[in-house]
Amino acid sequence: PASTTRLAHGGLAVGGVSLAEAAERFDTPVYVLDEGEVRGRCRTYRDAFPDTDVLYAAKAFLSRAVVRWVQEEGLGLDVCSAGELELAVTAGFPPERIVLHGNAKSPRDLAAALRLGVGRIVIDGPSEIARIAAAVGPGGRQKVMVRVVPGVTAGGHDKIRTGTEDQKFGLSLTDGGAQHAIARILGRPRLELTGLHCHIGSQITDVRPYLVALRRMVGLMARVRDTHGLVLPELDLGGGHGVAYRPGEPALDPAALARRMRAELVAGCATAGLAVPRLLIEPGRAVVGPAGVVLYRVLAVKRTGEKVFVAVDGGMSDNPRPALYGVRYAPRLVGRASAAAPRTAMVVGRHCEAGDVLAADVELPGDVRPGDLLAVPVAGAYQLSMASGYNLVGRPAVVAVHEGSARVLVRRETLEDFRTRDIGA
Ligand code: LLP
Repeated sequence: PASTTRLAHGGLAVGGVSLAEAAERFDTPVYVLDEGEVRGRCRTYRDAFPDTDVLYAAKAFLSRAVVRWVQEEGLGLDVCSAGELELAVTAGFPPERIVLHGNAKSPRDLAAALRLGVGRIVIDGPSEIARIAAAVGPGGRQKVMVRVVPGVTAGGHDKIRTGTEDQKFGLSLTDGGAQHAIARILGRPRLELTGLHCHIGSQITDVRPYLVALRRMVGLMARVRDTHGLVLPELDLGGGHGVAYRPGEPALDPAALARRMRAELVAGCATAGLAVPRLLIEPGRAVVGPAGVVLYRVLAVKRTGEKVFVAVDGGMSDNPRPALYGVRYAPRLVGRASAAAPRTAMVVGRHCEAGDVLAADVELPGDVRPGDLLAVPVAGAYQLSMASGYNLVGRPAVVAVHEGSARVLVRRETLEDFRTRDIGA
């Protein structure tokens, strides 16, 4: 997790910066991102996967600073919209090291990808083949991959499982959909098929589903060779590497994953008589999730019936994950010491609905009161990137901490922002 240090009197520091001081200085709610931890996690991946292109999945969280950090640490990028792509490229990221995903790429997405010269476009369905070829135009050539559904069930929640055919992404391995698409792509001179892709799901804490998927993908590569006489040079196994949201929960170990994937790949290719393709992986959550902490100020405390409700100044607009996936977080009191006995509380947000619960039935000191500060660790992924404008509460600021200093990466959304976008009066 983020490099935390305990301070006196219940204080906690991240990246050498006291969280209580950060809350004072930048106001709350505020997302604090530990730059050293993000960089360290990039390095862990680079070291664990030396012969692999590690692409950071921008959907987990993207800002211009993050673009620079992952670039400096030697990673590529996975984007899924013109917005993510333009932000990355205008922040200086080399477009040829970017892969564009999406099950429904808009004309704007494709135009930006081709104009900026994105490295690979991942084809997700049959109708994209002609569209991309047309967008490339005469005389042009674009590198593409094909997203395949390997038929593997994995992932932390139904809504983030993408390895089976009952969901919208990818082309089927079993009904011939993938092979048919591959044949059609190979008939298009404007498209250069470099390899296959799969992404089986997210928040996966077990290595085995990756190995099953890998074996099936190698099987398809062998069929492509047998059918078309073509040995595809690349295999992208997606992301999904799980992290621990609470102490004691399992996480996927990148080093173990790398070792087992490499062994499975080498063995599978030997059996199939295939040259070993270049591997790509796309971790998002595992790069930024544990590097983030969100700070909330307690606004109200009340007991109703059996429950104690601790209401904070954020909620489902900055973190929809508990409501969407039932994820459980571990908030803690910071900024002051408490000797009070712990009691079970519901940490809730400030939004106008009962489902706005950030952490159900968690232990907090019995004397938590308005004005207190709560920190929720492992807040770096899929919180702000999924933030909404609900109730015009405004999206929180993002602050980077590094070696004892703090700076704003993304400023807080203000009343002025709401006014400027609303031009209809
Ligand atoms: N590659 C592709 C093609 C993806 O669709 C995703 C995530 C990733 C890589 C990165 O997956 P990661 O390593 O971050 O698990 N909002 C959900 C997660 C949705 C993931 C969507 N795709 C959550 O908050 O848990």
